[in-house]
Amino acid sequence: MIKVGIIIGSTRPGRNGEAVARWVHDLAAGRDDASFEIVDLKDFHLPHLDEALPPAMGHYANAHTRAWADKIASFDAYVFVTPEYNHSTSGVLKNAIDFLYAEWNNKAAAFVSYGSAGGVRAVEHLRLIMGELHVADVRTQIALSLATDFENFHVLTPAAHHADAVTAMLDELLAWGGALKTLRDTWQAKGMSGTA
Ligand SMILES: Cc1cc2nc3c(=O)[nH]c(=O)nc-3n(C[C@H](O)[C@H](O)[C@H](O)COP(=O)(O)O)c2cc1C
Repeated sequence: MIKVGIIIGSTRPGRNGEAVARWVHDLAAGRDDASFEIVDLKDFHLPHLDEALPPAMGHYANAHTRAWADKIASFDAYVFVTPEYNHSTSGVLKNAIDFLYAEWNNKAAAFVSYGSAGGVRAVEHLRLIMGELHVADVRTQIALSLATDFENFHVLTPAAHHADAVTAMLDELLAWGGALKTLRDTWQAKGMSGTA
């Protein structure tokens, strides 16, 4: 069965990201075609990137990097739950992405964003980053408005239509996540890494 990590892209005290991730997880949990797990960056205590070698070389010196790598490697696909900070994703999420390389490769990703303008600019930046990491990002995305999908900009009250969009997004994610798992399994059987 495909395993999906729902990554909370904010560690800010009072963050909205945790409620958004739990809402996605609750909607996903009823499915029987994949398993879903929330991944909270707060649990991994990653410093600013402190590995001497580029992640693409695959030699991780630090225990915190290896713990993060083991968690990310355990999934076939990801849902990035991202805020919009200064027209991009959060620094903490970008840093966490930068720590690793092979663990992301040839997987699938989807995005749930939130912000004054729905967080869409954060997702556009994330899509550029996904290309460099050999991650296939699906088209359907969820953009929650702080003005209309939250009460007082904080209590999550998503409009009803977003639930259908989550289903469509996960359908796309699981299709690509499954196809890429088959590809990775084939390459592994042939002793190929699948990345340059
Ligand atoms: C440093 C910072 C920068 C922000 N910049 C933007 C922005 O450029 N566009 C936007 O729509 N919202 C922006 N916001 C509002 C956030 O998207 C909103 O506060 C959101 O809830 C933050 O996610 P979090 O609560 O999970 O940390 C910003 C918030 C912070 C803290």
